[in-house]
Amino acid sequence: MVEATLDTYHFAFIHASTIGDPGNPRAPNVRTQIVDGKLTFSYTIDQPANETIINVAEERDADGLRPVTYTLLATPNVVHLKKDSAAGVFVIYFAYAPVTDLDAELQVHMDRPTVGYRKWTAEMGIRFL
Ligand SMILES: [Fe+2]
Repeated sequence: MVEATLDTYHFAFIHASTIGDPGNPRAPNVRTQIVDGKLTFSYTIDQPANETIINVAEERDADGLRPVTYTLLATPNVVHLKKDSAAGVFVIYFAYAPVTDLDAELQVHMDRPTVGYRKWTAEMGIRFL
């Protein structure tokens, strides 16, 4: 679930016309760093304009695309996501606690290929850094 939360590439496909732009499915160029024991990265992407990312006091029409900056901090089971736009700053704090095993955590079927890949590579002794 943490891995899915950190994904930068699904907006154009999964959130088409809300926070994703199907006309621009390019992944942002992201550089991760470990700072004070947390994985962190930030990126800016253009998203379809709506009242959640425009300054409604200054702009009435929500047309086109607007830049939105995401800054994420993650530990192995927690993600802090900050979204900056002309509308202001929103923060989402995700905390995950596995109930039993990895299969029990899964609630989204599109994650199954990624989890299957990770299990398969783990069985071969391959570890990701
Ligand atoms: Fe999403």
